[in-house]
Amino acid sequence: MRTDYCGELRSSDVGREVSVCGWVDRRREHGENLAFIDLRDRSGVVQCVVDERHDLRSEYVVRISGTVRPRPQGTVNANLDTGEIELGECIVEVLSEAEPPPFPMHARSEVDENVRLRYRYVDLRGERLQRNLKLRAKVNSAIRSAMESQRFTEIETPMLVASTPEGARDFVVPSRLHPGSFYALPQSPQIFKQLCMVGGIDRYYQIARCLRDEDLRADRQFEFMQLDAEASFVGQEEVMAFISEAVSAATEAVTGSTPNEPIYMSWLDAMERYGSDKPDVRFGLELIELTEVFSGTEAKVFQVECIKGINHKGGASLGRNAIDELTGKCQQWGAKGLAWFRVGTQGTLEGALTKFMSEAEQVALGDAMGAEPGDLLLLIADQRHKVRDVLGLLRLELGRPPISAGGLNFVWVTDFPLFEAIDARGCPVSAHHPFTMPHLDDVAVLMEAAGAGVAAGAGTGAGAGTGAGAVEASKLLGVRSQAYDLVLNGWELGSGSVRIHRRDIQQAVFRTLGISDTEAEKRFGFLLDAFRYGAPPHAGFAFGIDRLVAILAGEENIREVIAFPKTQSGADPLSNSPTAITNHHLDELGLRVLGGANA
Ligand code: AMO
Repeated sequence: MRTDYCGELRSSDVGREVSVCGWVDRRREHGENLAFIDLRDRSGVVQCVVDERHDLRSEYVVRISGTVRPRPQGTVNANLDTGEIELGECIVEVLSEAEPPPFPMHARSEVDENVRLRYRYVDLRGERLQRNLKLRAKVNSAIRSAMESQRFTEIETPMLVASTPEGARDFVVPSRLHPGSFYALPQSPQIFKQLCMVGGIDRYYQIARCLRDEDLRADRQFEFMQLDAEASFVGQEEVMAFISEAVSAATEAVTGSTPNEPIYMSWLDAMERYGSDKPDVRFGLELIELTEVFSGTEAKVFQVECIKGINHKGGASLGRNAIDELTGKCQQWGAKGLAWFRVGTQGTLEGALTKFMSEAEQVALGDAMGAEPGDLLLLIADQRHKVRDVLGLLRLELGRPPISAGGLNFVWVTDFPLFEAIDARGCPVSAHHPFTMPHLDDVAVLMEAAGAGVAAGAGTGAGAGTGAGAVEASKLLGVRSQAYDLVLNGWELGSGSVRIHRRDIQQAVFRTLGISDTEAEKRFGFLLDAFRYGAPPHAGFAFGIDRLVAILAGEENIREVIAFPKTQSGADPLSNSPTAITNHHLDELGLRVLGGANA
């Protein structure tokens, strides 16, 4: 039907007779018998001069045949790839009529997102999504090549599985042949890729669809894609190198140049300096340790476990309302309040709290924070974990640039703790997932905790903190893991770990987590069994492709790089899902619905 793509015609084509197909983008009528039609296809637009009567409207699908000619002098459009030429002597054939588009194609940002998603096929025609989806395809292709050249084999794992714990809720699928039983959709291929290692695959990868029922945010969808990888007889360093190679190839495919070398940072360093395990290193405002400065303080607010601060350079000009607003935010994030000091023209501190501080303390505070006239010093005093969390968020609030600003800053965060908190039952919560290998020097603590847990909980594994001989929470929280994350411009891109390949250690971790032997057997017995039959040491990683593509495309929301995403409330206004199902269907599945649309 066509000889060329619209957006690819150039001066060098002048004189050629061509046919192009596409959608009518814009029309400019000049009297009855002359119109300028911008015809659009996936490659761009070309101006067609139609000098016969026609009945073309926006978004009509047409085929236009004509001769490429230079635009008349003074009408060249330097902003357009095809701006030096136009098609003349055009013959127009309407292939498909179109109703007026449901929203103006050239004012997309003003259109309600529900409307755009309801008519996503129209939205997809626009330049932004065309560009983003092509970029995404390039990333996928580069990742595949990079993994294959590193001798990884692509393997597809099942979508109907038993639950894989990744910290979110499962989406479940009722089984018709086993009424009352359910499959879970995979939160990740984690267990299957480990089984692939026991199966001698050696190096596995997959561009895997994962499903998690969690609250949606700018960087989260129910369904998302991971580059998922696992390798045998390797440790952390090798995995980080494999993944760096894939990410670097993907970046290069999009930007044309290799990204800067990643930075390596320990989890503790990231938490202490950036107040986050996903440090955005594109800007300063680092957290400054001040606990020592206040070690002998008279001021009640500063008689706490930990004090840290941020020096907001030039921030002294911030008005009282703005500072109150920041204080309110810190309180929402869990702080009792925000202590602040303006640095006056003479370098002295000004603020309500100075009257509780000695002269020496004020000088020491200013020195520690590198205070200069015009600065605003913002301090949080509380438990250490709270200070870090709140200041980490405040730092982003004050300084976070748009996602694509400041280049691509990859950070490998290493040496994560094995557990991130203790839950209401007194059991620790995995920082990564329960298959992560503890630091070998800390295995003894785990064995002790597992033994104590079982004794105390009479086989329920009620865990640490309960009963005689239980291991102290602080000791458990101090257990190190062999887990690592990759962070890009402050987004968590991916995470991975060296895995447990020994049945006894895996059992100890399950017990410590409060998963009883019976429950562990029921949920993960097949994995524990596999470890009896020759499991190689192995390690792996997964990173979010939607997130990587969004950052490379300069998008703040991953919806902009997904062809058919869900809305914030998890609905798809296009296909109208989720939806009720018929009673017949419910009967077949042996289900009764108690609430909602089917009730
Ligand atoms: P994790 O749970 O950290 O690790 O997931 C890896 C990466 O997947 C992306 N991701 C998401 N992207 C979009 N929407 C979501 N809801 C979403 N959830 C996660 C993130 C995240 O860093 N099995 C382990 C990996 C391993 O240990 O090998 C896992 O899935 O970019």
